[in-house]
Amino acid sequence: MKSKLAIVVLAAGAGTRMKSALPKVLHKVGGRPMLAHVLDAARKLGAARIIVVRSADADEVASLAKAWDAEAVVQERQLGTGHGVLATEGMLKGFDGDLLVLFGDSPLLTPATLGRLLERLKSADLAALGFKAADPAGYGRMIADGDILKRIVEEKDASASERRVNLCFAGMLAAKARTLFEILHGIGNKNAQGEFYLTDAIALSREAGLSCAVVEGSEAEMLGVNSRAQLAAAEAAFQARKRAELMEAGVSFAAPETVYLSADTVIEPDAVIGPYVVIGPGVTIRKGAEIRAFSHLEGAEIGPGAIVGPFARLRPGAVLEKDVHVGNFVEVKNARLEAGAKANHLSYVGDARVGAKTNVGAGTITCNFDGVEKHFTDIGANAFIGSDATLVAPVKIGDGAYVAAGSTITENVEPDALAIGRARQVAKSGRAKTMRAKRKAKADEDD
Ligand code: UD1
Ligand code: MG
Repeated sequence: MKSKLAIVVLAAGAGTRMKSALPKVLHKVGGRPMLAHVLDAARKLGAARIIVVRSADADEVASLAKAWDAEAVVQERQLGTGHGVLATEGMLKGFDGDLLVLFGDSPLLTPATLGRLLERLKSADLAALGFKAADPAGYGRMIADGDILKRIVEEKDASASERRVNLCFAGMLAAKARTLFEILHGIGNKNAQGEFYLTDAIALSREAGLSCAVVEGSEAEMLGVNSRAQLAAAEAAFQARKRAELMEAGVSFAAPETVYLSADTVIEPDAVIGPYVVIGPGVTIRKGAEIRAFSHLEGAEIGPGAIVGPFARLRPGAVLEKDVHVGNFVEVKNARLEAGAKANHLSYVGDARVGAKTNVGAGTITCNFDGVEKHFTDIGANAFIGSDATLVAPVKIGDGAYVAAGSTITENVEPDALAIGRARQVAKSGRAKTMRAKRKAKADEDD
């Protein structure tokens, strides 16, 4: 059966309170734009259509919508949230299912709560999501009697007693699409902000004899972001939720509140995350891996049983297979370390392969960049790279080869060969002693 649900996501507002050149809905929470969080939740509801309302100059918002399989429509002038919903009317001509309205600045909302909202439509003509705010300042207040919603009044238009109401509108509401459009045609803009408020649809619906209901959710989920301080609050709420989810799924955190996660972070059970670890976008940590304190990871895959850090940096394209060890002050970028390989101290491994069980000694550098292009270093299995080796790419070190400490390797090394690329050591017997005597004599003379 074709889905009878369409979702409209309002994302055209200028976001003036953010004081930013970037459209508000593109500001990130957990490393992902707020709008993407909303679209992610929307997609899970199985809607027939998802339409993002954007401003004419926000091309990036249109590309983001496309990346999430949503359509986009331009709201030429931002005349208010009610006006924003009306911008989708043409596209939804002939659609006679339910319409769910979401705001692009509410990044924490979950499909489960939206499901509850839609469920309520079975016994009400219009349902709106609300929450009890610790500090309701800035939110529209829901004037309700139990779960019967009478109207929503914006803070700037509210009386002193209405402002004391702490039941706030979260910005999501649902009704029959046709009914909602019809009602929205009736709203005016004679209010403190001179805007066409979506929230006026409640009082008008009731005047038309329709029933309106409140569905309540938690503040941590409903939070709307209008300012940098609210963005930080949303980030904190996101982090707390993500950590709790991962712990619930079997991941250990020594000090969860010090670990930064991203929206797409995947960590399997029995992984252990130490204190002060930053996990940027695109990281997968497999079961039993251990990430030690102060490591910074992004775009990396960490295999089962691997040990990373303390103080390691994994950059995009780092793939550590099973039981790999990457230790302190080691940077890995676009490189695969095969099972059991080790790079434990002070190294740069970039654009490279390190074969299984190979040991990369302290201070080893892959010289991948010649000033113009990047080149590949291919190190085979069971090799041993001595400390302070510089491997000038492109270069290949065969399986089982040995590179002497302090070598500069510019030519391929065959399997099982020993490569030495350094000045030969010369030791002159007794020379230190005579040098010392000479210097002492000169110093005595000068006195
Ligand atoms: C809105 C609600 C308020 C609610 C709060 C929840 C209205 C009138 N007010 O206030 O009751 O408590 O959200 O967070 O609805 N937008 C457009 N076109 C416009 C105006 C806004 O697309 O012309 C978009 C914005 O990009 C944003 C969303 O609609 O994503 C909400 O607008 P915003 O200005 O943030 O409204 P609030 O003041 O937060
Ligand atoms: Mg807002």
